[in-house]
Amino acid sequence: MVFLNDTFVPAADARIPVGDRGFLFADGVYEVMRVYGGRPVLFDAHVERLRRGLGELAIAWDGAARLEDIARRLLEENALDDDDATVYVQVTRGAPEKRSHAFTAGVSPTVYVAVQPYPRHPAARYEEGVAAILVDDMRWKRRDIKSIALLPNVLANQRAHDAGAFEALFVENGNVLEGSHSNLFVVRDGVARTHPLTPEILRGVTRSVVLDLAREAGVEVREEPIPRADLAAASELFLTGTTTEVMPVTRLDGERVGSGRPGPVARALQSAYLERVGVATAQAPDVGAPPLEHSDGARHQRGAAES
Ligand code: PDD
Repeated sequence: MVFLNDTFVPAADARIPVGDRGFLFADGVYEVMRVYGGRPVLFDAHVERLRRGLGELAIAWDGAARLEDIARRLLEENALDDDDATVYVQVTRGAPEKRSHAFTAGVSPTVYVAVQPYPRHPAARYEEGVAAILVDDMRWKRRDIKSIALLPNVLANQRAHDAGAFEALFVENGNVLEGSHSNLFVVRDGVARTHPLTPEILRGVTRSVVLDLAREAGVEVREEPIPRADLAAASELFLTGTTTEVMPVTRLDGERVGSGRPGPVARALQSAYLERVGVATAQAPDVGAPPLEHSDGARHQRGAAES
């Protein structure tokens, strides 16, 4: 069962016109939200980013407030209301009768929402870290808008897969910006750096939560451009993202990162993040990191999960 333009329909019966501007021009935006144990997390922040993207593209859609209800109904209908899953939301500029670059007035947007099972990555990835590669950034200049035009991300990610790596990191003008589907943090001398919120990167929801958690844990954070040349001296790299969570990168272009093992900052933030989104882990990471304070959000979310 999926949601398309105000109705819940079996996926096989969901139809969009071939004139849809998402299909013809990639004229639309999307979001991916995470669900743990049937419980959507950080939903409001994703909805907020979606609203902003719609505003930037002048796509008029006033249904964003209903998204969480739609997601909950889809989780139920698809028997995922106890599971780990993702919610995919896509809004395009709709399907005018004639193809033309300029917008056609009076066309309603096409709204598509779907859920799918999304188990957490195997524990070994989080415990041992993953590999990444560097690629030239070929994307447009408004990466702060979560556009459905993902071809450069798709090709970069495929290159990573072909190289046996988990993620491709985009390099532009000598700086390493973010991954094909995640944000990047670089740690050196205990300081965690990540690219600032410019149009060059997506304003990751997980990035922002992890920045808060780092500050709460007393880790110094800096939002500043990261020269590619700095990567060689990094003691830790890690990725953040809705589907990625907090993922240590321990090999970059075939070279070891730091000690070759996930470092203390990534490990502390991994567990703080899971706590924040209300995911209980079987084994607490043994990193000798100082105890972290937890936000009210975490307590609230866990309380909600128990009830
Ligand atoms: N990707 N950067 C890019 C280019 C992304 O596509 C994503 C998310 C992120 C992380 O953002 P967030 O923490 O809000 O998920 C950063 C989603 C998950 C996707 O395309 O599947």
